[in-house]
Amino acid sequence: MCGIVGYIGDRDATPIILGGLKRLEYRGYDSAGVAVLDDGQIEIRRDAGKLSHLESLVNDMPVHGKIGIGHTRWATHGEPNARNAHPHIGSTGEFVVVHNGIVENYLALREELEAEGTEFKSDTDTETIVHLVEKFFAIEGNLLDAVRRTLQHLKGAHGIVVMSSREPDKIVAARVGNAGGVVIGLGENENYVASDLPAILEHTRKVVFLESHQIAVVTKKNVKVIDTDGKPINTQVQRIAWDPVAAEKGEYRHFMQKEIHEQVRSLTDTLAGRVDFDAGRVTLHELNLDAAKAKKIQKIIITACGTAAHAGMVGKILIERIARVPVEVAIASEFRYADPLVDENTVILAISQSGETADTLAAMEEGRSKGGILWSNVNAIGSQAMRIADGCISMQVGPEIGVASTKAFTAPLVDMYLLAVYLGDLRGTLDPDQRFKLVNDLMGIPSLAGVCLDREDEIVALARKFMNMDHMLYLGRGINMPIAYEGALKLKEISYIHAEGYPAGEMKHGPIALIDRSMPVVALAPKDPWYDKMISQIEQALARGGEVIAVATDGDERIPDLTDNIIWVPEVPWLLSPVITSIPLQLFAYHIASLLGLDVDQPRNLAKSVTVE
Ligand code: G6P
Repeated sequence: MCGIVGYIGDRDATPIILGGLKRLEYRGYDSAGVAVLDDGQIEIRRDAGKLSHLESLVNDMPVHGKIGIGHTRWATHGEPNARNAHPHIGSTGEFVVVHNGIVENYLALREELEAEGTEFKSDTDTETIVHLVEKFFAIEGNLLDAVRRTLQHLKGAHGIVVMSSREPDKIVAARVGNAGGVVIGLGENENYVASDLPAILEHTRKVVFLESHQIAVVTKKNVKVIDTDGKPINTQVQRIAWDPVAAEKGEYRHFMQKEIHEQVRSLTDTLAGRVDFDAGRVTLHELNLDAAKAKKIQKIIITACGTAAHAGMVGKILIERIARVPVEVAIASEFRYADPLVDENTVILAISQSGETADTLAAMEEGRSKGGILWSNVNAIGSQAMRIADGCISMQVGPEIGVASTKAFTAPLVDMYLLAVYLGDLRGTLDPDQRFKLVNDLMGIPSLAGVCLDREDEIVALARKFMNMDHMLYLGRGINMPIAYEGALKLKEISYIHAEGYPAGEMKHGPIALIDRSMPVVALAPKDPWYDKMISQIEQALARGGEVIAVATDGDERIPDLTDNIIWVPEVPWLLSPVITSIPLQLFAYHIASLLGLDVDQPRNLAKSVTVE
């Protein structure tokens, strides 16, 4: 997961930057680099591998200066090698950039820049940024406006930090969307920039968090924040408590809220190192698969508990549709006693955030004892479910503290999609055009998640309206049926409001008897193949006097005629829509619980990791 650290002041920048990057090391990365303004010249040291490697590089070829930026990279575009490691420098050697996020239109930008004669030195999307800054500096004559103009050309969500020998007294940092935060640390005659608080906390507790579409000009003595239109912003300086837990929460009230907001980044990281957008390919090295092994698989049984099981239900649809392999989903606590039909051509795929859930581990053992192949999709590194599996797709979301799982729900949705494309490719069930399309559709997912997060205020308003209900019914169909289950689970877990998730077509076989004004219906009705069916479910619920909260795709013209309670989500290819529809439901549950004043991160009777039967 990419990390950014920058320093400007009177001290030697290199050790401060390396120290900050070390604090972010736990997030995982595959290469690292630092750029320092040394005697008016930008000097870069960067390489693949661990920070210790970069440290020895810096020891062998020291760089000294009072301003610098550094980065740990988790590859998205291009191999993790020295050429692709950040920082990236422009053609004149006067501008240097580090970046978190994906430049979604980088191919078009690269072609444009190449047509103008720019030579690229890496395979990264990030390099387009530094060339744009350089180009617009030549027109605007100053770094801030060059960065502002560059941002207007970039699609996607970004955290960007730029330094230039042409304006050696400043660092310019920008945030667009939610590709991770940008935080400015304030010191005495020195200032810091980072993607995450832990990188700078040993130096200062006074910080300013950049909001989306804000740019900071950071000099040794002050910090000026403007928005991307150039209007000055009155920033609020926050003092971070010494309590390490509070410090880790940063700008958020609860870990759950922080983790919901981390999803742009966790989704970006989920793609990193696995998706080759240029080749339209997915590779999951961790599974040690080849075409012959993939073709032998006759059945996959996904086993999991709770939220992870809901991710598995989406996984079934994805793998069956894309890879054409039959998939069953088995609740782990049932599977372990079900005397299941498993043979050496059956894969048991366990999904687990903690990797330590007793029922899930027992289900894996059951599968193993019957001769099946064991795979897992796990977040906690080194956990049992990771160790005992023959292959493990690790979730790239970092530690999840809130008991109610959020970022460790959307990551496996994408992991299952990646698995489906990978298996389809290896088994020859996907033609190249389909494969390219499926891979290309992934590119916009992190920033679309960001669009959902940017609409948090609208969700807060709905949460206020419905926070005092005693019951809620969540309905969905097809690929969004598991999201109805998950939305209801989130609400009941943390707000203690009774909520049921139901396949919408089953409403008429029972739950319809409950519908009245005191039992609102949350209806997932994005533009997917089940859309028309969902419209008629909404009409049926309304006919019974129910109040409907609809999750609808931007631009939908039918739903506003049916209800005023609409959660708008951006348009997305339907196989990926669960990632996008689940995020507002996480926010809805979160804000209801938070407005009710409940202990969101540690709800009563629940545990993050259930290691007993
Ligand atoms: C507990 C947690 C749930 C989680 C489930 C499975 O019940 O409270 O949030 O979904 O365990 O956990 P796992 O770590 O296996 O994903």
